[in-house]
Amino acid sequence: MRQTIIAGNWKLNGTRPEAEALLGELLPLLSPNANTKVIVCPTFTALESVATLLEGSPIALGGQDLFWKTKGAYTGQISAPLLRDLGCTYVIVGHSERRGRFGVPEPDFDATILAYFGDSDTTVNRKLRAALAGGLIPICCVGETLAERQAGSTDSVVGAQTTAALAGVSVEEVQTLIFAYEPVWAIGTGEVCAADEADRVCGVVRQTVANLYGSDVAETVHVQYGGSVNAGNAKDLLAKPNIDGALVGGASLKAKDFATIVAAAP
Ligand code: PGA
Repeated sequence: MRQTIIAGNWKLNGTRPEAEALLGELLPLLSPNANTKVIVCPTFTALESVATLLEGSPIALGGQDLFWKTKGAYTGQISAPLLRDLGCTYVIVGHSERRGRFGVPEPDFDATILAYFGDSDTTVNRKLRAALAGGLIPICCVGETLAERQAGSTDSVVGAQTTAALAGVSVEEVQTLIFAYEPVWAIGTGEVCAADEADRVCGVVRQTVANLYGSDVAETVHVQYGGSVNAGNAKDLLAKPNIDGALVGGASLKAKDFATIVAAAP
């Protein structure tokens, strides 16, 4: 039986004191069942202080992104070894906000500056492989935009992103991976994907892995759902057979809500 993996993506929120306060409130509320893994992904600057607070707890630490080079003249970047050094064991790669695919139009969004960060299928694959090589478990995000959904291309977009992310990944490595199906239109919008549809598309991710590596291998891969998961809808989503957890943004910044999501794991 696969674990349920609930990860909180704090995005660009939290000075060190704010992160410490959130965690201080959260830790006493969390009592995950034996089959549930909890991960928090704070800002880079808060990683060390959060790591200190997590010592001795079963809650794991993750980064929100990484660069694929391990060191060198790459101003502003963070690498797998640096994340490991701070106590991370997980890292998010290919989040739609890094791919420049937004559910809510951003007023200062400018495609000429590479959509803020410019992650592509190719760089997501490099990041994923760098994470694996550096001993981190990647949480690899895939998902369609509203326009792609309306055009009926959800499955092909999600399948193509999944396939591209896995280029050069060995059969041993793929079994450690976490995917997060995050429909772009559901992220930060309050508009959650219906549980049956989320389950179906998580199944598309799994089937894509099965096509590449075989169905036994695909059964070991974790596929989370992400996009407006909250205390009210988590139970329905997490009860679905192909949904192995949640990647939670906004609701992970509210201790009580995040704890309720964790408690909703089957
Ligand atoms: P949300 O974000 O829960 O605020 O929709 C999810 C995510 O971006 O991972």
